[in-house]
Amino acid sequence: MTESSTLSNTYNETKYQLTTHGKRNIQVLKEAFRKMEGDLDSDIYGKGKVIEEFQEKMAALLGKDQAVFFPSGTMAEQIALRIWCDDKGLQKVAYHPLSHLEIHEEDGLKELHKIETVLLADKSRVIELEDVEGMGEDIACLLLELPQREIGGQLPSYETLERISKYCSDKGIKLHLEGARLLEVLPYYQKSAAEICTLFDSVYISLYKGIGGIAGAILAGDRHFTEKSKVWKRRYGGDLISLYPYILSADYYYEMRSHKMQQYYEDAQELASHFNAVHTITTVPSIPVSNMFHVHFPYSLVQMEKVLIEVHLQTGIGITGNLKEIDSNSCYFEASLGDLYRKIPKDSLANAFEYLDDRMKSLLN
Ligand SMILES: Cc1ncc(COP(=O)(O)O)c(C=O)c1O
Repeated sequence: MTESSTLSNTYNETKYQLTTHGKRNIQVLKEAFRKMEGDLDSDIYGKGKVIEEFQEKMAALLGKDQAVFFPSGTMAEQIALRIWCDDKGLQKVAYHPLSHLEIHEEDGLKELHKIETVLLADKSRVIELEDVEGMGEDIACLLLELPQREIGGQLPSYETLERISKYCSDKGIKLHLEGARLLEVLPYYQKSAAEICTLFDSVYISLYKGIGGIAGAILAGDRHFTEKSKVWKRRYGGDLISLYPYILSADYYYEMRSHKMQQYYEDAQELASHFNAVHTITTVPSIPVSNMFHVHFPYSLVQMEKVLIEVHLQTGIGITGNLKEIDSNSCYFEASLGDLYRKIPKDSLANAFEYLDDRMKSLLN
C-alpha cells in the first residue's frame, strides 16, 4: 500500500466491482448514441418527436394521463409539491425526515416556495399509516419515498400503501410518489409500475439510477397537474432548448435494463447474504427489498478504509469507493446492484469475502 492509496482510487483500479452498472464516464453517452441517426431532429423547448414520444411511453408505463421530462428529480419534486399546495391553498406537506427534499436540496422547498414541512416517523424506519393518522395537522400533500433510500431502501407493505392512499384520498390530501427507484421495487411488490401508481396522485421516477441514464427525471400525473408542471419547469429554467442527450440516453438504457430489475433484486439478496456472513458486518435491511441496501461496519471510518483498501489491492474486487461515517465507532456504505455483479467470477467473489472475513476478525485483536 502506498501513501497515495485511497479508498476511491484503489476501488477504481480493481478488476471487478460489486455494485452499479459501471463507471459514469463519457462512454455511457457514446454507447447510447452509437446507432443513432444523425438526422433525427432535436427537441425544442419541450416539443418535438424525441421528447413527446418518450413522455408518452413513460405515461403509459406509469398509467398516468401525461408524463413530463425534467432535467432533475430535485426540480420535478419541488414543483410537484408547490402545485399541490397551491391547489389546496395550504403551504404544508409531510414526508420522511430523511427525504431527499429535507436533507439534500439546501431547503429549496422552504426557501423558494415557503412550504412548511411535517416530518413523519423516526429516522430508522418507513412511514406507517399510524404516523399519517396521528399527524394532527392538515397538509396539502404527503410524499412517500419508495424505497426509502437513506435507510437502505426499506419499504412499507403493499397493504400499508393501499391504506395510506385511501386515508389521504378520504381526507383530501394529495399523495405523491418519490419513486426515484420505483422500477427497482417492482419485483418485491410483484406489481406493475402502473398498479402502484394508481395509489398516488403524482409520481416521479429517476432515469439515471437503476436505469443508468445520464441524468433526468419523469414527473407524471393527470393533465391538470402536468400542464402546471410544464409552466413551473419554464420558470425554473428547466425547459432547456434541447434535452435530447438526456432523453435518448435514458430511453436507450431503459430498453436495456428495465426488464433486469428482478436480476438486480436477486443479486442484492445474494450479495447481502455474503456480507452478513462476514464477521461483525451487517446489512440494512438484512434481506434487501430492492436492488439496494446499506452495509454497516462497527469500526471507525479510518479503520475500515484501511481494511477495504487491502481487500481491493489483494483480491482485485472493489467493495466500495465511498464510506460514510456514522460516529467514531461505525460507518457504512450504500450498495446498489447493477450490471457489474454478474461479471465477477464466483471463485474471485468467494475469495474476496474470505479475505474480508479474515481481516474483520483480525480487527478484534
Ligand atoms: C430519493 C431521491 N429523490 C430525489 C433525488 C434527486 O434526483 P436528481 O439528482 O435527479 O435531482 C434523488 C437523487 O439521488 C433521490 O435518491
